[in-house]
Amino acid sequence: MRYPDELIEEVRSKNDILDVVGSYVHLQKRGNTYFGLCPFHNEKTASFSVTPSKQMYYCFGCQRGGNVFTFLQEYENYTFNEALAILAEKAGVTLPETSISAEDRSKDTLRKRMLEVNKEAAKYYAYALRSPQGEAGYKYLTGRGLTDETLLRFGLGFAQVSSDDLVKYLKSKGYDDKLLIDTGLASYDEKHGLHDKFWNRVMYPIQDANHRVIGFGGRVMGDAKPKYLNTQETLIFNKRLNLYGLNLARSTRADYFILCEGYMDVIAMHQAGFNMAIASLGTAFTEGQANLIKRFIRKVYLAYDSDGAGVNATLKAIAALKAMELPCRVISMEPYKDADEFIRNLGAEAFQKRIDEAKDSFFFETDVMAADYDMKDPGSRSDFTDALAVKLCEFEDEVRRDNYLIAAADRYQIPVDQLRRRVIAKAAMGAKPAHEEPKSGIQKKVSTEDLVLKKQRYLITWLSEDTSIYPVVKKYIEPSDFTDPLYAEVARQLYADLEAGRMNPAAIITTFDDEQDQSRVAELFNTTLVLDAEAERGQALHDIIYMVKKNAVEVRSASDTMDAETITRQMSDKKALEELRKTTINL
Ligand code: UTP
Ligand code: MN
Repeated sequence: MRYPDELIEEVRSKNDILDVVGSYVHLQKRGNTYFGLCPFHNEKTASFSVTPSKQMYYCFGCQRGGNVFTFLQEYENYTFNEALAILAEKAGVTLPETSISAEDRSKDTLRKRMLEVNKEAAKYYAYALRSPQGEAGYKYLTGRGLTDETLLRFGLGFAQVSSDDLVKYLKSKGYDDKLLIDTGLASYDEKHGLHDKFWNRVMYPIQDANHRVIGFGGRVMGDAKPKYLNTQETLIFNKRLNLYGLNLARSTRADYFILCEGYMDVIAMHQAGFNMAIASLGTAFTEGQANLIKRFIRKVYLAYDSDGAGVNATLKAIAALKAMELPCRVISMEPYKDADEFIRNLGAEAFQKRIDEAKDSFFFETDVMAADYDMKDPGSRSDFTDALAVKLCEFEDEVRRDNYLIAAADRYQIPVDQLRRRVIAKAAMGAKPAHEEPKSGIQKKVSTEDLVLKKQRYLITWLSEDTSIYPVVKKYIEPSDFTDPLYAEVARQLYADLEAGRMNPAAIITTFDDEQDQSRVAELFNTTLVLDAEAERGQALHDIIYMVKKNAVEVRSASDTMDAETITRQMSDKKALEELRKTTINL
């Protein structure tokens, strides 16, 4: 259930995008647009734009964009209704209580209450760490080399030996039993009643990218099992979509993150000055987490444990990062178990050296592969060469493939021509790593398709910036000529607005629910194209319209149905296209 569209639009139009975004991001005016450093990814030159005439923001670096609602949803992790409520209050608009479903409202407030009670709990644990009852915890953590400053930065705390003091404290603050159970701070059983989930452990609050405590990890102070007790999955705690330390690492000046395995590794690295360290939350690193990383940075170093499990985890992480097109390198911890131990023994300088010497993820993978073969045995050696050739076929780009091929030949002492012949043979056989779709040949088509989509986007942007071209555009292009369904829908709405003499891209964004869709809509209104400087504007518009139309006609004629209607349509399409080709557009 959502509020009526008119009400949403009223709230949106009463909150100027410059005010809203400007209170988070430092913006500077350039022409009709404001620019600043993108809050969603790490960058040194400003590619984040806010355009008041469109009431929209868009980052040319990470392609995220939207309107005032999207911004608060992305920046503050608010739900749509939360963003709406905040902006309504700011603008003095009263939201009717009834138009939001009870379920939606209780979900919003439940999330809020859960975050609130977690924050209280974190404060309580942190206080306890510094009290006499927390002495064991404080000794344990400082005994592992952590400074007071580090304890504070990570909000570390202590859950006391008694089994219900947190419950008592939180109940005295007015939080009810169910909330404590839902949040994962307390459990209930017949024998003990309501009791603390964590006791006699040092506590690591887990924060989301916006510093909000979403869960906890609690570590025993000795060798008892389980070593860590973690908050279970809750409404606000998704282990597969959050990363430990990201709230701090997001503001690093480095252009990479270091991904490691444990809470302690992250903490030790930050203390040693590596404030770009993050870790997954006790589960295997996921593509969702890779995607989250991509919002902030474009390069990853892996610093997993050096044991067998660590190597397997590294291979999995490489695959997840590759799926999101994030390049990575692997740091060796040898001869130590993990980053924490390495730094404690050899220090920050030695660790920096390991970062500089990190291994390209491709060679990490092939080195692991090579360990399974006996290179002195000719048969086994040939098998390895075959496997290596298949692996090299993963590179789509020919130059890149050949560069890796040359390096691999050298690394494994295989004559380069021999390896190249194998790769060519494997490629011809369509050798592909088992999980990937065969892609050869498709590559070219995709890129012309990309180009057409870009022209479609540019046409929408142009229309939004100069509505005077609308009469010409609509003469030749109909919304359904935009071949991407989302583009077509936006075009339909934009045409309807222009017919009514309006132009309101930010309102169009709100008609899409999904944040990713909203970013794509923002991209549609913020596409720049390098036009031939010599070409006249009329000529440029003609070329774009022609290309978009031609592509639409081609896509339609490729459809299988062959009824009378389709044939008539195709004939008129062809005629229109031919006419368009001969027309000159004067602007
Ligand atoms: P490690 O066993 O490597 O722990 O587990 P660590 O972080 O290095 O901790 P120290 O140095 O022994 O204090 C790596 C990660 O796996 C998860 C935690 O997220 C931990 O940080 N884990 C491990 C659990 O969730 N539960 C466990 O019982 C063990
Ligand atoms: Mn450790």
